[in-house]
Amino acid sequence: MQRVEWSAFLSVGNARIDQDHQRLFEILNRLADAEARRERAVVAAAVEEMARYAGEHFAREEELMEAIRYPLLAEHRRQHRELAAKVEAWRTRVARRWHPWHGGTFFAVLAHWLVSHILEDDRMIADFCRTGKVGHRFRRAKAKTPPPAPLREVGWGQRPIREARTPMSLA
Ligand SMILES: [Fe+2]
Repeated sequence: MQRVEWSAFLSVGNARIDQDHQRLFEILNRLADAEARRERAVVAAAVEEMARYAGEHFAREEELMEAIRYPLLAEHRRQHRELAAKVEAWRTRVARRWHPWHGGTFFAVLAHWLVSHILEDDRMIADFCRTGKVGHRFRRAKAKTPPPAPLREVGWGQRPIREARTPMSLA
């Protein structure tokens, strides 16, 4: 059976946030068990709890980012909002007696999102708290979403083309 296990490797260096992540893992594992046993009412309760607790946790994290003037707050908040909207949509569908095992599992999507979010994004907050800098992970995150390249005019009668994108240097 699929499960997620929290380990010190996933620590973001803040006891309250680590505690939240562990609680989210507990809810996820309850969800995995219920999906495996096809217990719709238990799945619905776990999705409901996930929606509520993730909302509280995101608010705590965002409060922390505001307090430390975290430079990537807006992008981080956008990710939280996207996930919260997805969980809210699932909550509504399950409440209408939709059977989750007919279309994949909530657990698989949530576990993947949460683990990569902790490793990639939440740990950047920890780096910033510790060093006051966003470091290499910041540059990598920016490199993922390069700004659109400027249009270059190539002469009369020809259509403008975009400059080739060059990957952002990580040096
Ligand atoms: Fe986060």
